[in-house]
Amino acid sequence: MCFLKGEEFCPGAEKVQPIIKSVEESDIIILDSPNYVMEMSGNLKNLMDHFAYRWITHRPYGKMFTKVGLTISSSAGAPANNTVKSMAKQLKWMGIPKVYKFPFISNALNISTISSKKEAELKQKSEKIALKVKKRANKPKASLKGKIMFYIFRKMQASPSASWNPKDRDWWIEQGWIKNVRPWK
Ligand SMILES: Cc1cc2nc3c(=O)[nH]c(=O)nc-3n(C[C@H](O)[C@H](O)[C@H](O)COP(=O)(O)O)c2cc1C
Repeated sequence: MCFLKGEEFCPGAEKVQPIIKSVEESDIIILDSPNYVMEMSGNLKNLMDHFAYRWITHRPYGKMFTKVGLTISSSAGAPANNTVKSMAKQLKWMGIPKVYKFPFISNALNISTISSKKEAELKQKSEKIALKVKKRANKPKASLKGKIMFYIFRKMQASPSASWNPKDRDWWIEQGWIKNVRPWK
């Protein structure tokens, strides 16, 4: 329904649309999830499924091509690298060129049982990452990879035989992307 007819017809649109609108208005997009069996939580993945229509393959939002992403995952003991990578993949497919990652092991079950030494160490690391994110957000730019992805899917949308979904194709035409408008300019 969402892909073919429109996001306003998607079941749950009244809950999802305000969230995606705030994502689209933000300069920095942060996804945060505890590491659950080496992945993001099911709830976050469910939200990501609702965002699927905004993937580059469908109807990407132009400003995404210059935004900055950050993915954070806390883990009790195992490395959460895979989890932050998986969350970053979601943002990259929405067009975000640069996604910073912050996986951390808390050696605790939640914030109330974390040691003060660990808390101080994590605070220091998070401040370093925050500086990098802010620096990039102050000078937003598209990446070469993001531009290549755009041109690949532009080619698909420009070809009536390759574009199977008229709703997606109309979006690319309306944005002027099939002609000479580029989302990062
Ligand atoms: C369903 C579930 C699965 C979990 N899986 C893992 C895991 O695979 N590895 C790990 O180190 N911790 C695991 N944990 C522990 C959580 O990662 C840890 O409690 C989390 O960092 C707490 O974050 P929060 O305070 O934001 O909830 C799991 C916890 C739950 C409830």
